[in-house]
Amino acid sequence: MKSDLYELTAKPSMTQRPRRLRRTETLRLLVRETGLSASTFVYPVFVDQRITKPEEVPSMPGIFRLSLSSLAGEVSEIEALKIPSVMVFGLPDRKDALGSGAYANDGVVQQAVRVIKKAAPQLVIATDVCLCEYTDHGHCGVVRGGVVANDETLKLLARTAVSHAEAGADIVCPSAMMDGQVRAIRTALDEHGHIDTSILAYSAKHASSFYGPFREAAESAPLFGDRRGYQMDPANRREALREIALDISEGADIVMVKPALSYLDVIAEARKRITVPLAAYSVSGEYAMIKAAGERGWLNEKSVALEVLTAIKRAGADIIITYFAKEAARWLQEAN
Ligand code: PBG
Repeated sequence: MKSDLYELTAKPSMTQRPRRLRRTETLRLLVRETGLSASTFVYPVFVDQRITKPEEVPSMPGIFRLSLSSLAGEVSEIEALKIPSVMVFGLPDRKDALGSGAYANDGVVQQAVRVIKKAAPQLVIATDVCLCEYTDHGHCGVVRGGVVANDETLKLLARTAVSHAEAGADIVCPSAMMDGQVRAIRTALDEHGHIDTSILAYSAKHASSFYGPFREAAESAPLFGDRRGYQMDPANRREALREIALDISEGADIVMVKPALSYLDVIAEARKRITVPLAAYSVSGEYAMIKAAGERGWLNEKSVALEVLTAIKRAGADIIITYFAKEAARWLQEAN
């Protein structure tokens, strides 16, 4: 016996013509399922304590390490583009085994946060909470006997988060992938009276080769070994969901999947299971690929970038952290 489905496939009914709704741009707009807006973007900024004027990152065309003195101008521009938030990364003037620059009161991120608060008071300031830019070995925590010591690192991450909150950060973003980091940070923030400082947890952060250009930008590549002992195996989706659930139970206000483009299935699955806002980090390698192909004329940079951002949104991300934020905000303004 032939099924209905067989009949339908064999003889498509011509009462169903999906092309009817694709005839004009206005019709397409009317039935579009996913909208893209600058209001969902977070723009990462690299602030370098050692420089006096911006320096372009070679593997990330259009992205600059900023000096503290150039930061005010930059964030005013970001605010004018109606991008609601920046994520601050710091390059300190000194590194040591314990990453003390990460939690120094006059550390680069702490200074940067104060500058941003003054120059663009409405901007939501998110800060990356990790030690890798501040340790002389480049790992995300304290190294003991060749491995990153989880519980000892928690204290330093908590101290870092508190110092960011004290400087005026609205959201702290633990990215070290230490077990219990969200709980340790929530507890420390509350103890210091920062009950309104939010936590955006890098919950499902995979040990990805797409971070290469970032490590050049932030000078944070590990001197020995790699990060697979703490970051997640790119092959694991169920584990990503477990990490996300754990972080929510520890007090994360927003959770993240990272990278984005190669992990759309993780984003989609997470979206189905959680009610807190979900962020996706479209990382440095994703940006570099599109830029490089665009420069060669192999891809149309603008339409590919907008397509990728739309796909990340369609998969279920509420917030997109992207190096394209400024350009995409301009492209979206032109389109309207
Ligand atoms: C810090 C951190 C990294 C990124 C964000 N925070 C690097 C890493 O884990 O090696 C990567 C961001 C990007 O590639 O754009 N731990």
